[in-house]
Amino acid sequence: MIPAGEKNKNLLTINTILQFLTKNNFDRNDTVVALGGGVVGDIVGFAASIFKRGINFVQVPTTLLAQVDSSVGGKTGVNNNYGKNLIGTFYHPKFVLIDIKVLFTLPKREMISGFAEVLKYSLIMNRKFFFWLCNYGNEIISRVNNQALLKAIEISCKSKSIIVGKDEKEIGLRAILNFGHTLGHALESHLKYSSKLNHGEAVIVGMMAACKVSVKHGFLKKNDFSKIKNLYDKLGLEADIKKYLNLSQISNFINIMKKDKKNSSNNINLILLAKIGKALIYKTKLEKTLIPFIKKELKNV
Ligand SMILES: NC(=O)c1ccc[n+]([C@@H]2O[C@H](COP(=O)([O-])OP(=O)(O)OC[C@H]3O[C@@H](n4cnc5c(N)ncnc54)[C@H](O)[C@@H]3O)[C@@H](O)[C@H]2O)c1
Repeated sequence: MIPAGEKNKNLLTINTILQFLTKNNFDRNDTVVALGGGVVGDIVGFAASIFKRGINFVQVPTTLLAQVDSSVGGKTGVNNNYGKNLIGTFYHPKFVLIDIKVLFTLPKREMISGFAEVLKYSLIMNRKFFFWLCNYGNEIISRVNNQALLKAIEISCKSKSIIVGKDEKEIGLRAILNFGHTLGHALESHLKYSSKLNHGEAVIVGMMAACKVSVKHGFLKKNDFSKIKNLYDKLGLEADIKKYLNLSQISNFINIMKKDKKNSSNNINLILLAKIGKALIYKTKLEKTLIPFIKKELKNV
């Protein structure tokens, strides 16, 4: 058992696991099972990938977020003081076992968090799925429709595996899975991974920001934006960045965003929307896009 929470997704926890594996003589014929949410999956996957240069591991995700996203695709890793997921590997589990029964003990807040990633797939690559979510989003989050919940998980996993199958190491296309994550990760890091904001909630704020920037730069039509905004309102998704950041903290926040591992020599591949169901990769400078946008949002009262 490792302690819950993003705060424990660090090298200290990795060391505890490695010590346990060594002490108990685990070898390459053994298998480690990651039973838990995305935090457990990322930590255990990383430990399994470096112990004796890689031992088998299996993912049994127990949160919606882990079932639709983090257990699939082979990214493992931990945070350090400088930012999120800065230390990690690409390492796939032997298999992923998903059972929706485990989701019935999850707090609703965690269902909303997982729904963020489900919504992400619809926005970046599947317009039809988005309109289906407009009808079934509430039932999925409330867990009153198992068929809809299963369908949402299946479409999400398939969507991710299509992208990862084409670009496992994130040379190009896989970057679209980071939609909403540049700002989201920075917010999580800025709040020092406090329980005030979990991963999915950060992505919810980040995706809305990316949608607004997409409109501002002439990519996303206002009509599509309104549909996204309506779904946010209908499901009560909290997108107000002012809840987590104020203007006096902006320079520290900018520094955090600049440390994002997705940046290269001051440029960033910002993931925007061309329309609902189609993402685009926009090579830009933070100073030209996200930073002025965030400053403007923070000044709005
Ligand atoms: N590797 C990837 O590709 C990838 C993708 C997306 C997110 N992530 C990572 O995933 C993490 C977030 O994962 P998460 O949202 O699952 O958070 P989490 O692992 O922190 O779990 C959320 C909370 O739910 C509890 N919990 C787990 N299963 C439960 C259950 N069945 N019933 C009741 N409570 C339960 C946990 O103890 C925890 O308190 C972040 O660290 C994020 O960076 C990784």
